[in-house]
Amino acid sequence: MAQARADGATVLVTCGSAQSNHARLTTAAARRVGLEVTVVLSHDERREFQGNLLTVCLMGADVRFVDTEDHWDLERHADQVFEELRVKGYRPHYIPVSGTSPLRCLGYVRGGLELADELNTRGLDPLAVYLPFGTGGILTGRLTALRARGLTCPVVGISVNRGADRCQESPDTWWVAVSELLSLDPARSRGEVEIHDQFVGAGYGDATSDCLDAIALMAEAEGVLLDTVYSGKVRAGLCAHQHDRRGSADRPVVMLHSGGVPALFAYDTEIREHLNCRTGHIF
Ligand SMILES: Cc1ncc(COP(=O)(O)O)c(C=O)c1O
Repeated sequence: MAQARADGATVLVTCGSAQSNHARLTTAAARRVGLEVTVVLSHDERREFQGNLLTVCLMGADVRFVDTEDHWDLERHADQVFEELRVKGYRPHYIPVSGTSPLRCLGYVRGGLELADELNTRGLDPLAVYLPFGTGGILTGRLTALRARGLTCPVVGISVNRGADRCQESPDTWWVAVSELLSLDPARSRGEVEIHDQFVGAGYGDATSDCLDAIALMAEAEGVLLDTVYSGKVRAGLCAHQHDRRGSADRPVVMLHSGGVPALFAYDTEIREHLNCRTGHIF
């Protein structure tokens, strides 16, 4: 927001899925600083007036639906909207999909420093840190902070959309860009980074049965709500890895809950069916 205001912006433009958390948060942030906001959303199967979409509309964003389910294709549509607003006399400021840019990774750098300090205070040395992987902004921010504090454990990204090969390009790019922004040597060691793509299912936002199981498990065991797009997939990955090899009583595994609970409400049909099978009750 500071950058948008410094540029003299009058309207923010961003894009995402119909249930984009990023669109919700960008809209909220724009409203806090008195800016207009236009969000370009994919006209996907989650376009029901629910969850994040409901909140985006409630906060008065100018919502433009486009017919694509490809996140990266959305940026092309957002460019057109940007140009349209510019011609009309607005000063648009573009925020990329997922909000990922070096500057915006700094929030997760700060969050990562907080995590490292808390682990240090409690005398904990984690076996691994698990987090969701979309564009790789969260992973890069966290990794930068943990390594800066001397934590060497593997950082494990669970992909929510792309294959691991394609995901790998993102941390390569963002690591260098964030390092340059913070005047750190990009050639320093990044340590161990794993990216797993087996938990995506049929594609972005697919509520796989492992993901729904992980959501139910966390809800029942901890009273913590996860979502079907990000944290549920991370928990599903973590469950599989714990089953195979990872985790011990004295060294914890840290899992980042990155938010996104409103999207859960757009999955009421899948969740109801899953609960009916899991519990034997008919909801
Ligand atoms: C709740 C949540 N977690 C994780 C992500 C993915 O983060 P990144 O694109 O930085 O990998 C998003 C993206 O918008 C999100 O909404």
